[in-house]
This record gives sequence, C-alpha cells and structure tokens, in this order.
Amino acid sequence: MVTSSSTNASVKSNTGRMAAVQEMAGLLRLLFEIEREFIRTATTLIPRVGDVELKYLLCQHVWESAGHARLLRERGSEMSGFGKGDSVRPDITKLFEETIRPADETESLAGFYRIIKPAMLDSYRHYLEATHHLADWPSRHLVQEFVADEERHLEEIRPYLAELDTYPLLDHLSSILDSMGGLLRERPVVDLPDGFCWLQDSQAYSHPQICNRGDYPICSSVFGHDPEEDPIVREWLEDPNTDARVIRLMIYVWLMMELDAVDYLATVFYDTKEAPFDLHYDLARHLWDESRHSAFGFRQLPRLGVDLNTLEHSLDLYNILIHMSPPERYAMMTMEFESGSFPTKAKIMDRVRELNDFEADTLLAFDRNDEQNHVRYGHRWLPEILKLFGETRPVEEFVNATRERFGELAKLYGGKVPHSLPSEKRLTGKRICALAGLEK
Ligand SMILES: [Fe+2]
Ligand SMILES: [Fe+2]
Repeated sequence: MVTSSSTNASVKSNTGRMAAVQEMAGLLRLLFEIEREFIRTATTLIPRVGDVELKYLLCQHVWESAGHARLLRERGSEMSGFGKGDSVRPDITKLFEETIRPADETESLAGFYRIIKPAMLDSYRHYLEATHHLADWPSRHLVQEFVADEERHLEEIRPYLAELDTYPLLDHLSSILDSMGGLLRERPVVDLPDGFCWLQDSQAYSHPQICNRGDYPICSSVFGHDPEEDPIVREWLEDPNTDARVIRLMIYVWLMMELDAVDYLATVFYDTKEAPFDLHYDLARHLWDESRHSAFGFRQLPRLGVDLNTLEHSLDLYNILIHMSPPERYAMMTMEFESGSFPTKAKIMDRVRELNDFEADTLLAFDRNDEQNHVRYGHRWLPEILKLFGETRPVEEFVNATRERFGELAKLYGGKVPHSLPSEKRLTGKRICALAGLEK
C-alpha cells in the first residue's frame, strides 16, 4: 500500500474502512487523467512534425493511450473512490499545456518523450509496487500491460529524437513535475525555482496554418482532370476502360493522401477540452485508422515502382479546414468527405478485384469497413461537439451551412500551394500509366 509518508499533501489521506481501495483508486484516477491529457495535447504534434512515419507513430501511441485511459476508467469505476465524470485536475492540464508551448516542434516532442512519457512509465511501475498483488490483481494485470506498452513507446520513438537534446523545456518540465511531487504525488513536493515563468502565461497555443510535410514535395490537390498534371484523374477512376492497374495505383495515391485527414483531425482533440472521454476515444480510433489508411498507400506505392519523392502531398484540405471551427472541421470530414466517398470507392474496389491482388482487396475492404465506422462516429458525436460550442442549429442545417462556408473558404485558402516539382518530374496520371506498363 501507499504509506501516508510517501504521499504529499495534495492527495487526501484515507483512514476509513475502505482506505486501501480508495488510495489505489485515487492513483488509477490520476493515471486516467494523465493519459487523457496526453491524448488531448500530444495530438497537436501531428500536423507540426514533418516526418510521415513519425506522424503514423504518434497516431498509434495516442490510440494506445486511449486504450489505457478507457481500461483505467473501467477498472477504476469498480473501485470505491475513483470519482465520477471525466474531468482532469488543473495542475495536470497545466503540465501538458506547458509541453506544447515551444515554437520548435522537436522541443515539444522531446518534452513528451524525454520527460512526460518516462514519468508515466515510472507512475505505472510505482502503482505495481504500491498495490497488493493478490487483492488488486485486476488492476495489476492491466498496469503490467501498460508498462510494457510505455517501454515499447520509448523504444519506438528513439529514432526520431536527437541523440543529445538539451532543450530548456526538459529541465522546465522536470521542475514542474517536482513541484507536483511526481505525477502520482508519490514524492515530496519541491518548490518551483525562483524566477520560474510559465510559458502558457505569456503565449497561447495555436495550430499551424499549414501542416508540415518535411522534405516531401507538396501541392494544393492530387485530384484533377489533366493526366499531364495530376496523379488522380477523376474521370479515369470511374471509366470502365481504364486499366485496373492504373486504378490500383490511383487508389493508393488517394489512400496515402488521407494523411491530410490525419493532420486536420488531430487538431480537434485540443479544441474540445470539455469533451466526454468517450468522444476522444472514438476520435483517437478515427485518427489511427486514417494514419493506417495513409500507410496503405505509403507502403504499397514503392512496391509498385513509385518513388515517393516524386509524389506531391496535397495540403488544401488542411489549409482550408484550419480556418473553420472544430465542429465545422468534424462535420466536413464525417458528413461530407467520408459519407460521400462510398459510391466511387465501391466501383474502384470492383475494378481492383480484377487483378486478383489479395492484399489490395484486403486493404480496400478494411478501409471501407473503417470508413463506415467513421460516419457512425460522425452521427454519434457531431451533435455533442455542436453542444460544446453552443451551436443550436439542427445538425442538418449546420452541415448544409458548413458545406457552403467550406466552398467560400476554399476560394480564399484553397489552390494556394504551388507544385514543388515541375510536371515532368512529378507523379502524374501519365506517369502512372507508364508504371502500370501501358501508355494511355
Ligand atoms: Fe480513411
Ligand atoms: Fe475515415
């Protein structure tokens, strides 16, 4: 058990009949709140980092964190003293808010993975030491899994962290953790150093206006009508005369470009602080699904001969949606882009099946299944997000108005990203035909 001398004053000491349970439930509650805030704030890194594989990895870690939080809440709810509701106490929020303040995204990334995540791992280890192995076996079983996950996360992120990073944020966050007595309040409180200044007192966080794609070439959109200019020629997708190998390459480009959904969906977590946890849980799943869909293309295209350095990334959707409110972003995604994609994708799936490419059929079938769930999430959560933002219009009216506003904003912010590459150097419909072994 946690002894009273090892806790600090911010944790209420329990002396009653159920003290043993309540103390452990209190720790589970803290762990739940910590995972929640990790999900809400670490997602801000996703549009800020340029490495595609790093974006995918962050989506995976966020999804796994959502799983931890959900199981912690489920187990905690079985125990006296876990508490009701999903809210997070202010000092935990403050720590995570501080982590995302540096202008350099690599500094924030280091803050999360050099300080916060190791502290989360220590907290889970502390829980295992503090609890009774037999009495609290159900929690122990979960926490052992989480320790293994956290250890793996630190291994997986290692290639993306600088060998020796000496960012000021790291000592800064350590001081905050010391002042909290550790994430679980398990050690004595140490006062913040003299002259300590909170970054969040002088700067608000705001999402980047343009998402980062690192060294990859970029453009406004990969969809178009000109095979000499655009990689996805809209008419060809549904033309029965288009060779199925061309369709397969084009759908992989389409899937890879779902990276735009990764970048703009990632912004919704931070903007919905008061959301019920179940909403963020489904958003985390949605986010991870989109990153896997993008990876379908990212992994398969090189196998079909595409040099990914010739494939421009389309930025229009992020660049337009970032000027819209979080409910508008979520409405466009689920009620327009996703719900509207099924008929075309069904035709594409039928054409790809001609190739007897089992892997392509599998990827497309899972994509379709995931997308059906995403539209369900939209119906479930858009009304809740509207409430969070005080929006009183009926959902349908809101969606129609949002569609119109998107059209207006597209004129202002769309089509502004010039091609990084000249047409002869980039992947186009014509080049796709050549890779498919034919000239169209
Ligand atoms: Fe998708
Ligand atoms: Fe989706």
